[in-house]
Amino acid sequence: MNETLSALDPSLRAMLLEELTSGNIDRANQLSVKPGQEKFVLPVTYSLIVTPFSPMTSWQRVAVVDDQVVGFIHANLDPNAAVDEYRACIWRIYVDAAVQGQGVGSFMIHAFSEVAAGAGLDRITVMWEPGLDSPGEAFHRIGFTDIGRTEYGEIIGALASS
Ligand SMILES: CC(C)(COP(=O)(O)OP(=O)(O)OC[C@H]1O[C@@H](n2cnc3c(N)ncnc32)[C@H](O)[C@@H]1OP(=O)(O)O)[C@@H](O)C(=O)NCCC(=O)NCCS
Repeated sequence: MNETLSALDPSLRAMLLEELTSGNIDRANQLSVKPGQEKFVLPVTYSLIVTPFSPMTSWQRVAVVDDQVVGFIHANLDPNAAVDEYRACIWRIYVDAAVQGQGVGSFMIHAFSEVAAGAGLDRITVMWEPGLDSPGEAFHRIGFTDIGRTEYGEIIGALASS
């Protein structure tokens, strides 16, 4: 099933989200980020916190432009999660180095935001490690504001869902 954003920027009309499937996972695995960004793709906390997430609550999509897989998002959507920050939480997101800065990340985040709003959740969250080449500036420009830190020092950002 494909999804499109309701308020899609006209310049992005060819951008689609597809569910992660056996037919596109290979192409998703071949995405590569810019040098220096690799360590931000999976922060420490993410590899330690495994129990709150299950296949039942995972929301995984690839972004496709002109039949090319250009981005991947893995989020958790669980209105009943014990920890508020994990109810609508972006777990992993990355965009191929060749197309970063062209709206793909925003597109995937806003799509997840719509899904979260539809599930009755009023905000989405993401966590990232601060530092050189960190995605923090991109998340801030997309509209996330810092709401705290994990016990391992990653920044937790939140964005009102809509
Ligand atoms: C973070 C990431 C997903 C953003 O995706 P993207 O497609 O490049 O983002 P967009 O093009 O939608 O840009 C959104 C905003 O962030 C800005 N931006 C994007 N990359 C940026 C960067 N490296 N530094 C500063 N600003 C950046 C854009 O200019 C845009 O701002 P604007 O709307 O004011 O012009 C992408 O840079 C990425 O894959 N990074 C490496 C992996 C990573 O760190 N993932 C996060 C794990 S928590």
